[in-house]
Amino acid sequence: MLNVPSQAFPAPGSQQRVASGGRSKVPLKQGRSLMDWIRLTKSGKDLTGLKGRLVEVTEEELRKHNRKDDCWICIRGLVYNVSPYMEYHPGGEEELMRAAGSDGTDLFDQVHRWVNYESMLKECLVGRMAVKPAVAKGNYDWFQTASLVTIVIYTKQKDISLDSIIVDYQDGSLRAETIIKDYAYLLHMGLCHEVQEEFSVRAVENVGKIEITLKKRQSTSWKCLGQPLEKHNSFTPKKDSDLRYRKCQLVSKEDVTHDTKLFCFMLPASSHLQVPIGQHVYLKLTVKEIVKPYTPVSDFLFSEFKEPVLPNKKWIYFLIKIYPNGLFTPELDRLQIGDFVSLSSPEGSFKISKLQELEELFLLAAGTGFTPMVKVLNYALTYVPRLRKVKLMFFNKTEEDIIWRSQLEKLAFKDKRFDVEFILSAPTSEWNGKQGHISPALLSEFLKRGQEESSVFLCICGPTPFTEQGIRMLHDLHISRDEIHGFTA
Ligand SMILES: Cc1cc2nc3c(=O)[nH]c(=O)nc-3n(C[C@H](O)[C@H](O)[C@H](O)COP(=O)(O)OP(=O)(O)OC[C@H]3O[C@@H](n4cnc5c(N)ncnc54)[C@H](O)[C@@H]3O)c2cc1C
Ligand code: HEM
Repeated sequence: MLNVPSQAFPAPGSQQRVASGGRSKVPLKQGRSLMDWIRLTKSGKDLTGLKGRLVEVTEEELRKHNRKDDCWICIRGLVYNVSPYMEYHPGGEEELMRAAGSDGTDLFDQVHRWVNYESMLKECLVGRMAVKPAVAKGNYDWFQTASLVTIVIYTKQKDISLDSIIVDYQDGSLRAETIIKDYAYLLHMGLCHEVQEEFSVRAVENVGKIEITLKKRQSTSWKCLGQPLEKHNSFTPKKDSDLRYRKCQLVSKEDVTHDTKLFCFMLPASSHLQVPIGQHVYLKLTVKEIVKPYTPVSDFLFSEFKEPVLPNKKWIYFLIKIYPNGLFTPELDRLQIGDFVSLSSPEGSFKISKLQELEELFLLAAGTGFTPMVKVLNYALTYVPRLRKVKLMFFNKTEEDIIWRSQLEKLAFKDKRFDVEFILSAPTSEWNGKQGHISPALLSEFLKRGQEESSVFLCICGPTPFTEQGIRMLHDLHISRDEIHGFTA
């Protein structure tokens, strides 16, 4: 089933539409309606001219396909032959041609990021863009002073930030992995002299460079940086880059509810790693070779009770529910302060860019499915300029199961944009809040938009059946796929 929002969102003539450049739809020729397009895509006709083959497209190749009758456009790394779609495009052929033979992602997003091009153009897929080094080989550099060695990685990404880079220094070798769009760029060297464990990492956002500053153990002048190690100076699709672990020390552990605890781990001095919002890491115990994923939380809901956070962000917090019969969590719970756990590189598909233009954010969480919401909530309230409202609907069994209830209530009290509602499936008779499980009725009440045309986003996380059912119900309520992020395994 094609997921084309039939009631276009935002509504025609709304502020949001007018704001994005006075576009207008063009009259389409007879036989060129959306239904006709769907029929054509289902007809089995070869719409790419490649007989179903997928190819790797270089930039040079892409540029060649820039005519109406031979028009390729790249969106989010995938290249489509849009020539067959020309006459069906509601925005007209000229509009579509603006992206001919090039990367049309930004243009597409500016006009209608909600359009489900992936399903509409499924039969027009030509292939992926070839691995194109965003950093050409040799595009890192280094310089030194008497006591320091600074390595500079030029990413050519203006929005590069400190959570895009993971650096580990061990036994004389330095491994720095930079995430650039969908690729991981690796700098991997055996350094030619010793350096101290601690180093600093800095992102210079406006020029898209990352600087790693190492402290020399001896103030000799280095003739070279070192020897290249495995996969040095190469790009790997992000999804294929392997999970690496580093040993973290348990700093503190506190009860949050009767079965959920807040664990704080400290990264080693020789690692730089920040888990991006909405992503998780794997924890591994040495006792048994078991690995389980967990989503770090930030300290913003409880920090007022704490010592100031270390400025270098060496601490990582997790809210973890202990299952007495579980495989992993009882072992984790047995760790003493000072013990070690291995922590992987981050993983996950959540894109922070989804939140940037947001006006209303809805969060649906069940039990420990609350964990990804913490950072999302903090980010939205702090960095999203047009945000008017955040609503959290938090499902639990009983009152005792609610994580950080008083902190959430306090936040709702002090920030009028934020609202929280607790729904219990097995409350005591004293409970006078909402009861039950996730349902279309609860959702449609919850989702009432402040303003019809505001741009909304919705995150959902909980046990798999909760998330899956929830997403289905949301589709039935005409929330489009683009407006939902489900945190799933
Ligand atoms: C992306 C992601 C992020 C996550 N983030 C967090 C987080 O931040 N915090 C958090 O607490 N959890 C999180 N989880 C869940 C976490 O990964 C573990 O699944 C959880 O901690 C349970 O681990 P366990 O090995 O202790 O329990 P398990 O051994 O998996 O058992 C869990 C429960 O199921 C029962 N059980 C196990 N096997 C069976 C069976 N065959 N039949 C019936 N019952 C059974 C056990 O008795 C126990 O009660 C996340 C999961 C994912 C996928
Ligand atoms: C990248 C270059 C593109 C540009 C500049 C562009 C431009 C436009 C414009 C100006 C409109 C009219 C806006 C309006 O509804 O008021 C439109 C509508 C539309 N375009 Fe595009 N478009 C592009 C690519 C695409 C692609 C690749 C698809 C693939 C499916 C697509 C699908 C649609 C659809 C479905 C509509 C109607 C949307 C609605 O009813 O809200 N467009 N486009």
